Amino acid sequence: MQAPPNIVLVGFMGTGKTSAGKAVAAQLGMTFVDMDDVLVERQGKPVARIFAEDGEPHFRVLERALVRELAGRRGLVIGTGGGVVLNPENIADFARTGVVICLAADPQTIFRRVEHDTGRPLLAGGDKLARIRQLYAARQPLYEAIPLRVETAGLTVEQAAARIAALHRAACAGGRGAAPR
Ligand code: S3P
Repeated sequence: MQAPPNIVLVGFMGTGKTSAGKAVAAQLGMTFVDMDDVLVERQGKPVARIFAEDGEPHFRVLERALVRELAGRRGLVIGTGGGVVLNPENIADFARTGVVICLAADPQTIFRRVEHDTGRPLLAGGDKLARIRQLYAARQPLYEAIPLRVETAGLTVEQAAARIAALHRAACAGGRGAAPR
């Protein structure tokens, strides 16, 4: 039997891609892959150092290559980095072999979740909430272009995972955002 189409979780930082992704992978017996973790392991340094030493454009090149690699596989739950939507080819590639689902939360909720985090270079230094609001506004149209979405504010990780699983099931059955065969 062929492995199921991937579940690809996109969304702003702190919307729960990694936590809900791990939970849904466990529920469905699929393999979870966190894109940032793969990049960190392969580069041998944290995301913040990749940004600082090699620059964001280089990070985006690495990210793009990993999208192409992962889109060539099946049966994965993929937790993307928040900026994956910046290149529309990333979403097009993922949609060929998977169901792309956008996780969403309001800036305040995102701020609460990432407030004490130091590993996200785009939110480093200065007023974190203001930075979230600014980036969020700039990227909102890109996230809103994804037809399938789950609002994670107010949901437990298990509840978010159940909604993701339901969207994937419906898409695989030929419903909304129908999954590739
Ligand atoms: C980024 C989000 C991060 C990471 C990098 C850039 C972004 O991933 O890829 O810091 O551009 O939004 P998370 O969304 O997992 O925090």
